[in-house]
Amino acid sequence: MKDRIVEFLAEGTFKGEVSGSILLLVGPPGVGKTSIGHSVADALGREFYRFSVGGMRDEAEIKGHRRTYIGAMPGKFVQALKDSKVSNPVIMLDEIDKIGASFQGDPASALLETLDPEQNREFLDHYLDVRMDLSKVLFICTANQLDTIPRPLLDRMDVIRLSGYITEEKLAIAKHHLMPRLLKRAGLLKKQMNITDAAIKQIIEGYAREAGVRSLEKLLHKVIRKGIVRLLEKPDEPVKVGVSDLQTYLGQPAFRKEKSLKGTGVVTGLAWTAMGGATLSIEASRIHSSQRGFKLTGQLGDVMKESAEIAYSFVSSNLKRFKGDPTFFDKSFVHLHVPEGATPKDGPSAGVTMATALLSIARRESPQQNLAMTGELTLTGQVLPVGGIREKVIAARRQKISNLILPEANRGDYEELPDYLKEGLTVNFAKQYNDVFQVCFGNKPRKGSSVH
Ligand SMILES: Nc1ncnc2c1ncn2[C@@H]1O[C@H](COP(=O)(O)OP(=O)(O)OP(=O)(O)O)[C@@H](O)[C@H]1O
Ligand SMILES: [Mg+2]
Repeated sequence: MKDRIVEFLAEGTFKGEVSGSILLLVGPPGVGKTSIGHSVADALGREFYRFSVGGMRDEAEIKGHRRTYIGAMPGKFVQALKDSKVSNPVIMLDEIDKIGASFQGDPASALLETLDPEQNREFLDHYLDVRMDLSKVLFICTANQLDTIPRPLLDRMDVIRLSGYITEEKLAIAKHHLMPRLLKRAGLLKKQMNITDAAIKQIIEGYAREAGVRSLEKLLHKVIRKGIVRLLEKPDEPVKVGVSDLQTYLGQPAFRKEKSLKGTGVVTGLAWTAMGGATLSIEASRIHSSQRGFKLTGQLGDVMKESAEIAYSFVSSNLKRFKGDPTFFDKSFVHLHVPEGATPKDGPSAGVTMATALLSIARRESPQQNLAMTGELTLTGQVLPVGGIREKVIAARRQKISNLILPEANRGDYEELPDYLKEGLTVNFAKQYNDVFQVCFGNKPRKGSSVH
C-alpha cells in the first residue's frame, strides 16, 4: 500500500501537481485508513480536512443550499476550503460506503460531479453561487467494503486495499507506535512502565483478536491506567507487566487457546466480511431417520442458502462416488447450521465447506482436523474462485490453522502474498470437489460420472 501511495505521489511530483485522481482506501476497521490520510497530508505539507459522509442523506450537504432557505449553509467542500484557508488541501471523505439516499436527493450523485477531475474545475456551490476550482484538492476516501459504494462513484476512484494485521505485525505496531504514544499521553517515562513483549502478544491473542488494532490500543490504555494507580501507591517502583499479571489487569481472556469445534459433521470454513477475515465452523447433523429432508439455519443470505442447496444436491447425488451409504439422504432428515447464529452472513464461498460437512455425516467420519477451506461449489462439482484470499489466510493464521484448501483459480492470489503470511502453511488447491474430498478424507473418490 505504501508503494502504491508513493507511486501516486511521485507521479504528481513529476508533473508538478498532485491532482486529477481520487484515492479510495478500503479495509476492515482500525487498520489505519484514516491515519494514512493524515500522514499523506503531513508528508505533502498540505492542510488536512476530514468529514464523514456516512449516513449523509441530503444533497445540500455536498452542494450547499440556495440562500433563500432559512438556515442555509454552504456545502462541505466550501467549508473545507474555508477552514483550511488554501485551495489545495487534502480532503478525506470518510465512510463513503455508508452514504445514504432519501427524498432530499442522492448525495452520492452529487459527489459524482465533485470527484470527477474533468468536471470539478467548475464546481458550483448553490450557496455561494460562484464557480470554484476543486481540481487541486487531493481527495482520499475510506470505506470498509466496496459492495455498497455506487458503481459510477467507484469507477472514478483508485482503489487501494488494506488488509487486517497478523500477530507479529500488531506486536510491532504496539511496540513502535501505540505504546510510545500512550505513554506520552499519560505523561509517563519509558522506564516507569514496561509491558513485556510476551504480555503484548498475549493481549493480542487472548483479548484483541480483531483485524485492526483499535481494541488493542484500548486494552493497552487500560493496562497503563491501572499501572498508574500502582505507580502512585509506590512511586519508586517501576511497574512491570508480564503475562502472569494480565489477569489482574484485564480479567479473563476473551479468547481461549483455540479449540475449534470438531467431530463428525463439523468443518471449518473461511469467510470474509467488512470486519476482516474470519473462520466459521459449519455443522451438519442427522436429526431423525424416518423421512427425507433438509433444514438450514444461521441467518444466511439468499446466495448462501443457494450454496447450501447446491451442496445438498451435489452430495446426495454423488454419494456412491464418495463412498458413503448411497441411500443415506433418502432416510435422513438433515440439519445444516452455520454459527454464530446471530451474525447475518452471505456469499457463495462456503459451498465446499457445506458439502464436506454433509459428506462427513453421510460417511460417518470426521474430516481431517486443523483444516480450513473456502470455495464456491457448482452443481457438477467444480470449485470456483472466491474473493478475499489474503484476509482469509490471515484469519486462518490467527486461529493457528495450518492446512488450507483454496480454489485452483485463486492460486495466483495466494502466491502473490508476502512470504511471512505463507510461512508454515500447507495449501491444497482444488479444481473440483474431488480434490477437496481427497484432502479431507484422505482417499480417492471412485471413478464415474457425477450423476448416477
Ligand atoms: N500500521 C499502523 N501503524 C501504527 N498505528 C496504526 C497502524 N494501523 C492502525 N494504527 C492505529 O490504529 C488506530 C485506528 O486507526 P484508524 O482510525 O486510522 O482506522 P481506520 O482504518 O480509519 O478504521 P475505521 O474503518 O473504523 O474508520 C489509530 O490510532 C492508528 O494510529
Ligand atoms: Mg476511519
